[in-house]
Amino acid sequence: MNVLILGAKGILGRDLSYGFRDVHPLLWDITDLDITNQKIVTSRIKEARPEIIINAAAYTDVDKAESEPREAERINGHALKNLAQAASRTGAFLVHYSTDYVFDGKNRKGYTEEEESNQSINQYGASKKMGERFLIEEGKRNGLRYFLIRTSWLFGPLWRQKKHENNFVDTILKLSETRDEIRVVNDQFGRPMFSKDLARETRVLLMGLSPGVYHVTNSTGGRGVSWYQFAKKIIELSGKSTRVVPCTTHEFPRPAARPKYSVLRNTKLQPLRPWEEALAEYLEVKKNPRAYFARFKNEGVDTDTPG
Ligand SMILES: NC(=O)c1ccc[n+]([C@@H]2O[C@H](COP(=O)([O-])OP(=O)(O)OC[C@H]3O[C@@H](n4cnc5c(N)ncnc54)[C@H](OP(=O)(O)O)[C@@H]3O)[C@@H](O)[C@H]2O)c1
Repeated sequence: MNVLILGAKGILGRDLSYGFRDVHPLLWDITDLDITNQKIVTSRIKEARPEIIINAAAYTDVDKAESEPREAERINGHALKNLAQAASRTGAFLVHYSTDYVFDGKNRKGYTEEEESNQSINQYGASKKMGERFLIEEGKRNGLRYFLIRTSWLFGPLWRQKKHENNFVDTILKLSETRDEIRVVNDQFGRPMFSKDLARETRVLLMGLSPGVYHVTNSTGGRGVSWYQFAKKIIELSGKSTRVVPCTTHEFPRPAARPKYSVLRNTKLQPLRPWEEALAEYLEVKKNPRAYFARFKNEGVDTDTPG
């Protein structure tokens, strides 16, 4: 397998780099290839000739996207056209990730893979929806083969300090260092996803599943879990005494709206392990991040030192 991983320095990109280490993938992040540059994308992909392109590059600052929607569209939307066209021209298989935020979050039953999302909940979701459309269109028009993998509430090891928060577990742990009480919304429901499990499942999909749309998250009950329940479990499993107090979305306004119900229903794949089990493993990793990151170097994954 000749594999190219884009966004290789992001949360998911790192775990993909590790998960595919035995096939020695090309690991590119923005300094190696800016996916918004159509000309360069076309020429670099033509030159590298990957059989599989895994795109974990994205604009992920959900709140900031409200004030710079064009920038979010450039990276999450238009860049997908570049990648989809370059992949179909070279015959590469494209793996791309999207989000529960492409839906409006009003459906209590959650969303299946084939459900149409008429309106995204926020600008970030709208930009990811645009990317989905380019991908699907290239499949219909020019026979691009792809996996469109929607996921939600992603958590995993951060390699460097991000300007924005995109890992809820770390945010809660950080707050618990300075506060006796944390208020967390208890009226938004979804499904958490450990980046390591998502990387592994990507590999499973590539082992022979049909191209198309998949929903990949860790398992929860049918209704999902609330952010409050998620936070409570983080505190409980990390042995802290911080009080977690439920509140409403109304009491905790954010620049970008969040969906009330965003359970991604998986009707195509074997369920992944329960979210509590995945979270417990991540919290173990947090106790000794150097050891976790050392694995990468020991096993020959070309990488820099975590921040
Ligand atoms: N995080 C979540 O909760 C969540 C939930 C649902 C779905 N997802 C999706 O899952 C995927 C992976 O997310 P993640 O949290 O791992 O993202 P992440 O940690 O923000 O990583 C994204 C990577 O892409 C890079 N990048 C940004 N713009 C680029 C460009 N123009 N060209 C090339 N690379 C660029 C980023 O570099 P910089 O850091 O330098 O910008 C970063 O290294 C994304 O598709 C995301 O939309 C994430």
